[in-house]
Amino acid sequence: MKATFYGHATIALELEGANVLFDPFITPNEQAKHIDINSLKPDYIILSHAHEDHVADVATIQKNSDAAVIAIVETAAWVGRQGVSQDKILAINFGGTIKTSFGSAKMVYALHTNATPDQQYGGVAAGYVIKSGDKKIYFAGDTALTLEMKLLADEQLDWAFLPIGDHFTMGVDDAIKAAGFINCKNIIGIHYNTFPPIKIDEEEAKQKFSAAGLNLHLLSIGDSIEL
Ligand code: NI
Ligand code: MN
Repeated sequence: MKATFYGHATIALELEGANVLFDPFITPNEQAKHIDINSLKPDYIILSHAHEDHVADVATIQKNSDAAVIAIVETAAWVGRQGVSQDKILAINFGGTIKTSFGSAKMVYALHTNATPDQQYGGVAAGYVIKSGDKKIYFAGDTALTLEMKLLADEQLDWAFLPIGDHFTMGVDDAIKAAGFINCKNIIGIHYNTFPPIKIDEEEAKQKFSAAGLNLHLLSIGDSIEL
């Protein structure tokens, strides 16, 4: 299995049985100009929430790929208003696990606001625990550090995608605490460096994680890592 970073919080996962794309925000991202979104043909698009920096390319990529879109109910309704047909929308809510061709996706808590790009109610922001083959992966989405993460401690997570950019989400120090809460050592950073307020010192971040006994992977846009 493999993860590819497309900038910001956009992650593609090649799982057992299907390809998944999280939070597509590529064409508005100046740092991702070299990525051709027409080359992306996921089987599933999974949304943490509907803020513009997580959904900008959903409609285009869904049209190109006919992907099923997984989101919380109210964000899923916005996806429907973008012209995605209802049979391609998988609306779930907290605590719910959906069976998929790669395994399953469970919606878990995130501490963050949510609104659609047209400023309608988008429900609440969410994270996901993905099961595929013998791997378990946590995609935190946009979130602050929260005690709810401790509920994932016994999940035996292999990998976690955590926001580390601060300002709109938790920053490096809280992400290190989060890694402790979820009991996962292999962390891939998301939601950093895209905009000036979320710029981080990458070397310092890696050193801090390493000092806490954790591995922080920071991928260049377009690069992949074996999971
Ligand atoms: Ni957000
Ligand atoms: Mn965001």
